[in-house]
Amino acid sequence: MKYVLVSGGVISGIGKGIIASSTGLLLKTMGLKVTSIKIDPYLNVDAGTMAPTEHGECFVLDDGGEVDLDLGNYERYLNITLTREHSITTGKIYQHVIERERRGDYLGKTVQVVPHITNGIQDWIERAARLPVDDTREEPDVCIIELGGTVGDIESAPFIEAMRQLRRRAGRDNFCQIHVSLVPVIGGEQKTKPTQQAIREVRSAGLSPDLIACRCQDQLIEATTSKIAMFCQVEPSQVIAVHDVDSTYHVPMLLEQQGILVQLRELFRLDHYTIPPFLVEKGRQIWRDWKTLTKSQNRRLHLEEVTIALVGKYTNLHDSYLSVIKSLEHSAMACSRALNLVWIDASNLEKTTLESSPESYHKAWHDLCTADGVLVPGGFGHRGTEGMIAAANWARTKPKPYLGICLGMQLAVIEYARNVCGLKSAGSVELEDHPSDPVIIFMPEIDKATMGGNMRLGLRATNFQEGTEWSRLRKLYHNEPSIHERHRHRYEVNPDYIDRLSGLNFIGKDDKGERMEIIELKDHPFFVGVQFHPEYLSRVLRPSPPYLGFVAACAGVLEQTIAAASS
Ligand SMILES: *[C@@H]1O[C@H](CO)[C@@H](O)[C@H](O)[C@H]1NC(C)=O
Repeated sequence: MKYVLVSGGVISGIGKGIIASSTGLLLKTMGLKVTSIKIDPYLNVDAGTMAPTEHGECFVLDDGGEVDLDLGNYERYLNITLTREHSITTGKIYQHVIERERRGDYLGKTVQVVPHITNGIQDWIERAARLPVDDTREEPDVCIIELGGTVGDIESAPFIEAMRQLRRRAGRDNFCQIHVSLVPVIGGEQKTKPTQQAIREVRSAGLSPDLIACRCQDQLIEATTSKIAMFCQVEPSQVIAVHDVDSTYHVPMLLEQQGILVQLRELFRLDHYTIPPFLVEKGRQIWRDWKTLTKSQNRRLHLEEVTIALVGKYTNLHDSYLSVIKSLEHSAMACSRALNLVWIDASNLEKTTLESSPESYHKAWHDLCTADGVLVPGGFGHRGTEGMIAAANWARTKPKPYLGICLGMQLAVIEYARNVCGLKSAGSVELEDHPSDPVIIFMPEIDKATMGGNMRLGLRATNFQEGTEWSRLRKLYHNEPSIHERHRHRYEVNPDYIDRLSGLNFIGKDDKGERMEIIELKDHPFFVGVQFHPEYLSRVLRPSPPYLGFVAACAGVLEQTIAAASS
């Protein structure tokens, strides 16, 4: 097993995750099998209990693991399927070590951070790295380890020590570290001091980066590169300049131009490594496809735009909807359109805002009415839901393309119940105490008392019902009778109301036929709601069908897209 550790210095949020996943992609294009592990030095056992407004979206895996959104990056870039084992937090490691201590596994020894926690981290990494993650079902060749936070934080100290030891455990030629740093521009000058300090810091912790990836606004000038090389005592070729590019999908190309593969090939002595020819060929194909597809993201190309209104609740922190945005991007690329995403805070669409802030109200409605389609994503809680219902009503009656995800589907059902079926007080038990017509109810098997992992989570089957061959969504799923998507919900459509909601087609249900998974309107350009979260399975080279259909409908190319999916 070969490890690439990607760590960060100076500040966080400068694109460490993108550099790590792009490096993984480049290794994959050589025909290597690549996996990844994300380390988050916080005490939460997983990301399930963290507020999306604070920490960004909670990403959900096939096995129901609720993890940091960076794992989504790896799945999307590397086209792999990760497990909860691939997400390591301080909380998880301590829980694991403390459980062992309680069992008496340490035979009366004093249990300490070094060596017990640090060994626990290394053992975990060695175990998780070996899990097969792609359709070869074989052990991967390379594992990208992304260390969250910055080197020097108190929280990350045990992990740094574990990495120092892992370098020795793995042996020479099997461990490489990329340290991501920042080169700010002040008064027109590229400043190297923060990078020098970051490297000093990481070295004093006992690690020595093989490559220094410098994030900067513009291309690094030669003088800057040689200064960094000189002060940090590395070769100029070990300084990788990662300047801002039009789109994050171009970062792999940038890294390749910077010679990162040449460096990795040498560090890992890959010339002595035999890669099966079919994987080499597959790698080349992935690289060709990636370059062709992402070319359209070049801003100079002036593509036709597709304008999508995202009517949500956490519109201040766009990371709360990261996978949704990525899925829209994948689909827009597939439709050769530039994505113009318009954020609408759902509560601004409500009548009460008209009184308190008429300009926000009118602006929100103007944005909604001028968009090509409306997307209502998942979310929790009451705030803004009446605005989302109004948006669903607008899309249904106008008619404009609509995609409702999870809560967005449930609200579309409420809207339909109220305005088409005459159930004026239809509601959800999540949003009010005792609606007289509870069309959305709490799922019976869920435990209300505990927090964390108490939802219907992970990959579940949805079966298209008989007589739904007309469904456009079904065609986009290549007419498969049964599909698998990831779930994360506590509430669901009340099966007792299905008969009263005539005209609203529940075209997909779970294995027992009890859970309503998909709604679709027949006489509408595109009106789809899904209980699951298809955004978790969207890939750069394989957009998620509900998103693809929605974006294609917004761009006016749905028929061609369906034809391509059926062929
Ligand atoms: C992505 O992975 C899936 C399932 O593992 C596989 O069927 C598909 O061919 C892969 N796509 C690419 C472009 O490698």
